[in-house]
Amino acid sequence: MTLFEKDKEYVWHPFTQVQTEAPPIHIVRAKGTKLIDDKGKSYIDCNSSWWVNIHGHGNKHIQKAINTQFKEVDHIIFAGATHVKAIELAERVANKLPKPLSKVFFSDDGSTSVEVALKMAIQYWHNKNEKRTKILAIDGAYHGDTFGAMSVCERGVFNRPFESLFFQVDFIDFPTPEKEEILLAKAETLLKLNQYAALIVEPLVQGSSGMRMYSPQFLDELVKLAKKYHTLVIFDEVMTGWGRTGKWFALNHIQEIPDIVCLSKGLTGGVLPLGLTVATKAIFNAFLGEEKQKAFLHGHSFTGNPLACAAACASLDLLEEEETWTAIQRISNGHQTFIKEIESSSSIQDIRQLGTILAIELKASEESSYFNSIRDEAYHYFLENGLWIRPLGNVIFVNPPFCLTQAEQNRIFVVIKRFIKKLEL
Ligand SMILES: Cc1ncc(COP(=O)(O)O)c(C=O)c1O
Repeated sequence: MTLFEKDKEYVWHPFTQVQTEAPPIHIVRAKGTKLIDDKGKSYIDCNSSWWVNIHGHGNKHIQKAINTQFKEVDHIIFAGATHVKAIELAERVANKLPKPLSKVFFSDDGSTSVEVALKMAIQYWHNKNEKRTKILAIDGAYHGDTFGAMSVCERGVFNRPFESLFFQVDFIDFPTPEKEEILLAKAETLLKLNQYAALIVEPLVQGSSGMRMYSPQFLDELVKLAKKYHTLVIFDEVMTGWGRTGKWFALNHIQEIPDIVCLSKGLTGGVLPLGLTVATKAIFNAFLGEEKQKAFLHGHSFTGNPLACAAACASLDLLEEEETWTAIQRISNGHQTFIKEIESSSSIQDIRQLGTILAIELKASEESSYFNSIRDEAYHYFLENGLWIRPLGNVIFVNPPFCLTQAEQNRIFVVIKRFIKKLEL
């Protein structure tokens, strides 16, 4: 059997209709911003390998940290034991976040960090003997693929088979500028009922629904309302964290502070799976008591994995370098200049940008959605031209590793521009 035959025989790939889709590309090497396939063709990793790889592939500093850690402690149980890299990471992350956010719970990925946040919020009220079990969310959200996370996601084709099993969630519409006021009024009507354990949002950018962006002012007002009615606020910063929006976290763009923050993706520089859920001391304190059942009885075999923690600490070292922020600013400025160049194109519906995220929504004869047919055309065009871009339906987007060079960014823009021009014809 060839490698592809074996892949077909034994591997079940995610988000893939195996029967109709082309076989996967065999990547044999990943270095810096480049992915290289078995035929020697190289692709710029424009979406940072599912938005995780913030410092480029094969980063030497992260590699060294993992190697050193492996020689000391590879993996240990995290209940009844601790280790130095988990403590270092928790302290450093807590110090990067606004003060009340100071208790760090470890899990495995973005979905589990959200799952933990939801469970924390619901049990917080349970421990306080208050009946608040519903969740408030924003339409179009994506928070992951485990059951709790799915429950607070946009309801649709991705989760329809499971819908009858979801817990109760109310959604407010996506806050486009013209709807903001009306939505705040609606949110207040709902929050007044005092039945929500928490409000969960992807702060400022809804990633999977097409890098849809909304205003910091709206988010500030929404959080204020949630606080007014004692509803906990969860920020899912799985995608927006670690410099992606031009600041450390999306929450740094606003005044209000959430009660719980979910972190993953770029946390380890995107090289090992790890999730963190950071809560305020006030939430943590509600789990203290003489009774064991008041504790947060949740954990995973790989909770606090030392190798992942070491990678995350090394990633923080890199994020703390001025050079990284200069690169983030340069990429962001480059995006802005490119927007001016293409914004008048007749094939563009909308362009959005925040920090290193650039999203171009293409005009489509069908409704804008993940399954829009432009998606496949764009995906294959970009691959042929050496760009690894995985469009979200008719939204093509770039959220590259921060080590992207100016020349690589220019190359990305040349190819995107050619594709947009092709659509104009
Ligand atoms: C905002 C957000 N939350 C949660 C998740 C789920 O993370 P993971 O795929 O690591 O489970 C994602 C993944 O894209 C995400 O964008």
